[in-house]
This record gives sequence, structure tokens and C-alpha cells, in this order.
Amino acid sequence: MEQTLVILKPSAIDRGLCGTIIARLEQKGLKIAGMKMMQLDEPILREHYAHLVDRPFFPSLVLSMSRTPVIVMCLEGRDAVSVVRAMTGATNCRQAAPGTIRGDLGMSGQENIIHASDSVENGKIEVARFFYPNEIFDYSTVTTKAIYATDEL
Ligand code: PPS
Repeated sequence: MEQTLVILKPSAIDRGLCGTIIARLEQKGLKIAGMKMMQLDEPILREHYAHLVDRPFFPSLVLSMSRTPVIVMCLEGRDAVSVVRAMTGATNCRQAAPGTIRGDLGMSGQENIIHASDSVENGKIEVARFFYPNEIFDYSTVTTKAIYATDEL
């Protein structure tokens, strides 16, 4: 099954939204393969947002992402990357569609609550960036057969 990385950003931690967001992801049928709290610092943010280091907002992004610890999650499921991106919504919460996490829970561009991998390739890279191999769990749940048809497993 495909894996994707989610970060519950300081805006989710600050506002006490983590439980709500995790519930939405679980209720969708995504499996939590890994989850932990960690404090991000500039070196890991420079790596994670390497494509943005020259953007004028980068210093502000680093300050925002390191303001509190974050929760990182490895979620697993069929087409997990595209499913979670769709649930996440547009970058700016004010433009994100109702029904998405950002569209329902936020009002900011920068303080946009959640990060989700944008491709299968980046999902693999990002999971490996934030988790050691022994922090990702391979297990089956009793609900799997209710969530998927046999030919989707
Ligand atoms: S961009 O500008 O096209 O690269 O934007 P996008 O791909 O949507 O966003 C990439 C990540 O940069 C964050 N971002 C910002 N942070 C702070 N300030 C501003 N102005 C800003 N614009 C974009 C955005 O939240 C994305 O972070 P992640 O964690 O990947 O969602």
C-alpha cells in the first residue's frame, strides 16, 4: 500500500486541532503506519523545503514551522498520496474548498495547519526524512476488509 507523510503544523498544535484532524484521516480509512511528536529545526526545514529556501517567505516559514513541536504521521492506503492531498485542500486556507481540512479549519496562507506529500516519490523521501525504519509499523487491521474490496487490496 502507498504511504504518505503528513505534518500537523504548529498552527494545528496551537489551536488544539490535532485530534480533529487525526480523526478525519482515520475515519477516511487511512491507516496510521507511524506517528510521533518532534521539534523541527532549521536544518531539517532547509532539507524539507529545499525548493523554497530562496523564496522571500522562507525565514517566516522556518519560524512558523519551529514555533512548537509538530506531529508527523506516516499514513498508508490505496492512493494515499492523492487521497490525503485532496483532503488537505489548497495551500491558502481562505481559498481551500469547504470539506477540506484547510478549508474547514483555517483562515491563513502560512498557518495552514497541515503538510501532505505531493507525489508518491516525495512521499517515500519524506517518510524516510522524518522516520527511522523501526518507527514505521507493518500491521493489518480487522477493518481492512471492510474498507477495501478484495481487488483493491
Ligand atoms: S509555492 O509558492 O507555489 O511553492 O507554493 P506551494 O507549493 O503551494 O507551497 C509550498 C509550501 O510553502 C508554503 N508557503 C508559504 N509559507 C509561508 N508563507 C508563504 N507566503 C507561503 N507560501 C507557500 C506552503 O504552506 C507549502 O508548505 P507545505 O508544508 O508543503 O504545505
